[in-house]
Amino acid sequence: MYRTHNNGELRIDHINQEVTLCGWVQKTRELGAMTFVDLRDRYGITQLVVGEEHIKIAKELGREDVIQITGKVIERESKNKNIPTGEIEIAVKAIYVLNKSKTPPFTIEDKTDGGEELRMQYRYLDLRRNPLRRNLELRHRLSIEVRKYLDSINFLEIETPYLIKSTPEGARDFVVPSRMNEGQFYALPQSPQTFKQLLMVSGYDRYYQIVRCFRDEDLRADRQPEFTQIDCEMAFVDQEDVLNTFEAMMVHLFQQTKGIDFDSFPRMTYADAMENYGCDKPDIRFGMTFNYINDLAQNKGFNVFDQSESVIAIVAEGCSEYTRKQLDALTDYVKRPQVGAKGMVYVKCNEDGTFKSSVDKFYSESDLKEWADKCGAKAGDLILVLSGDKAATQKQMNELRLHLGNELGLRNPEIYAPLWVYDFPLLEWDEDNSRYHAMHHPFTSPKKEDIALLETEPGKVRANAYDLVLNGTEIGGGSIRIHDKKVQAKMFDLLGFTPEEAQSQFGFLMNAFEYGAPPHGGIALGFDRLCALFGGQETIRDFIAFPKNNNGRDVMIDSPSIISKEQLDELNIYLKVKEAL
Ligand code: AMO
Repeated sequence: MYRTHNNGELRIDHINQEVTLCGWVQKTRELGAMTFVDLRDRYGITQLVVGEEHIKIAKELGREDVIQITGKVIERESKNKNIPTGEIEIAVKAIYVLNKSKTPPFTIEDKTDGGEELRMQYRYLDLRRNPLRRNLELRHRLSIEVRKYLDSINFLEIETPYLIKSTPEGARDFVVPSRMNEGQFYALPQSPQTFKQLLMVSGYDRYYQIVRCFRDEDLRADRQPEFTQIDCEMAFVDQEDVLNTFEAMMVHLFQQTKGIDFDSFPRMTYADAMENYGCDKPDIRFGMTFNYINDLAQNKGFNVFDQSESVIAIVAEGCSEYTRKQLDALTDYVKRPQVGAKGMVYVKCNEDGTFKSSVDKFYSESDLKEWADKCGAKAGDLILVLSGDKAATQKQMNELRLHLGNELGLRNPEIYAPLWVYDFPLLEWDEDNSRYHAMHHPFTSPKKEDIALLETEPGKVRANAYDLVLNGTEIGGGSIRIHDKKVQAKMFDLLGFTPEEAQSQFGFLMNAFEYGAPPHGGIALGFDRLCALFGGQETIRDFIAFPKNNNGRDVMIDSPSIISKEQLDELNIYLKVKEAL
């Protein structure tokens, strides 16, 4: 037997027991003839006391060596309240080195000295550290709770294939060449969307899958090329049923893994989200909603506002004392190319009831008081104003609002503010290609009351589509689907597919709709994002055991990589080799 206990297990009631432990050497300290060793495994740390009889072996122990010891549990003289095993230590009788370790390239501590790239290269060492271990444990717990919950309400987990034909979710596909079918390619699924709809036609009215999805898109903190969805679909449901089912699942997850109780989640239409927050995934942990002050700010001689479609103001509470430097920094922030504003106007609502603005030339104290009243600003607050085209200004103001939220500490990761956003537009206009795209995906059904608009003003049609937002991050999206072949054909037509293209790409789904397709709908939650947010972070990378870096590379296994000429020949792939210039 390699071990009788793990390193997080022994307590005062184990005193006098003889135990065998295994693990990694966290650190060693010599004290006279004694050597103290911290022995670590994924369960914790146990202190070993090695006496003179083993001095030779103890002196040679290095960080991360794998050892096995046998010894007696004894009470510690100076107890360590910070760890659960801190009341005991092991008086070592025998010690074996199971495997020596090279000195690791960074310290295996909660706060390590290793840089990002180095830690990615030695990911297996990074994963020994507590913060990553805790993240993976949380991920495991969440997946177990998802399965428990969905199983309890009759959902079946069904696997769908990874080698498929592309589904149009909007990103690029990763493709896999087929050896047996020369010149042809599979695509890795961006999501199991069409398969889950086919399962509804097959009568599996509650399906789910915790499933890997693949998208060849630019990476960000909350995006990986391969990521995991909790993918779900239900038959004989309307939007309300789907929202209630997955709200209840989220309530269960919050309860079981965070001990937080939620009653119900607030809901907001897409139109309201855009109007009040300038984005479709508002962070509602804090206010600072938009005020449109065109009527007060225009026609007073200030050209910039006069020529703007929208003049939007937000209130930063308690910030009237912002210095010139702080205000300049905010102006610089909104003028960065990523935000794109031309400038920013401020109004300080001073504690003494006076006002001071960057546009005092054009507006009197009483004008500014009107602005403050309209925005609900009090003495001591700061009003910030951006203007221009409505959509662009909303987007810029959203950035400024989030930036201020961060600066003012209003985005506490320990506070959770879930929100449903619904009534998304069905289509969005693509200026570059002069055509419509499906805002969610082409299988999303239009709202019944808007169907007539499909012929006249397709851009105004709302969809039975919804997103689940948590703390300003989209963690899920779904819709009620089209289950009628004619409506689906109309949708493809609007999206610019010829009937032949629609048939060749989606014939299988449209044909299936002719064999008794039930009304159905569903949702997919981004599991990595969910784990990260539940772990109080926004970056998903450290909630995935072996993630890719920002260039989509796995630097540990060095992938992607070139393949041999033989492999390429077998696949009938001929690479164009660029001549060296
Ligand atoms: P959607 O494309 O909105 O919907 O994806 C669902 C959720 O998956 C997460 N997500 C990602 N997470 C990490 N890295 C990525 N690259 C990434 N892309 C998406 C997001 C997102 O909300 N088939 C539909 C769902 C449906 O209609 O039922 C779909 O895939 O959290």
